Amino acid sequence: MRIDILTLFPNMFDGVFQESILKRAIEEKIIEVNIVNFRDYTKDPHNKVDDTPYGGGAGMVLTCQPIFDCIRDLRDDDCKVIMLTPSGIPYKQKMAYDLAKEKHLIILCGHYEGFDERIKRICDMCISIGDYVLTGGEVPAMVLVDSITRLIPGVINEQSHIEDSFNEHFLLDYPTYTKPQVYEGMEVPEILLSGDHKKIAEYRHQESLRITKENRPDLLNDK
Ligand code: ADE
Repeated sequence: MRIDILTLFPNMFDGVFQESILKRAIEEKIIEVNIVNFRDYTKDPHNKVDDTPYGGGAGMVLTCQPIFDCIRDLRDDDCKVIMLTPSGIPYKQKMAYDLAKEKHLIILCGHYEGFDERIKRICDMCISIGDYVLTGGEVPAMVLVDSITRLIPGVINEQSHIEDSFNEHFLLDYPTYTKPQVYEGMEVPEILLSGDHKKIAEYRHQESLRITKENRPDLLNDK
């Protein structure tokens, strides 16, 4: 998969792609990440990429020209263009599964007071990673790339996410334990020591349901 990230702050991505699983996915050519500074596309004599909002109000708005030209330059017949904005649709695991099947993603990171609305017309979807406002789309872009990459076949041990995909609902993880069996008086649940894999699987499923009901009852109503 090719992933183009359009940003005004390319240095923010130093590090995330140079460690751990994402680094390996790049080395093994499972993903190719291309960080593009869309300021390079501006035709403004002062290199500006933003301007004041029509109608007044605080802050600056990203202008159409550099982003239109940048996306036109990068797009091909088989790509999805994603705008990151707090007013987008909420990002869900199901969307990560769908996006993991794409060949080419173009991810647009905003800054300042947002984008000129007309930029949405050249985007396929607008995504928000949560009900809070960040300083820009860079951290959300990292969230997208990380959550999508781990679902591409060959990136991680598939058993660790395969169960989620078969569940009708996305459930929160069951609790896990490792050695020692007793730590400061707290014991590992007996059933996990039983060796009865059928019972353990059922216990884990029930624990997933219990934790999801407690912490995220909304997920059980999601389709
Ligand atoms: N940009 C700023 N906040 C954001 C959010 N919550 N999701 C996506 N993009 C954003």
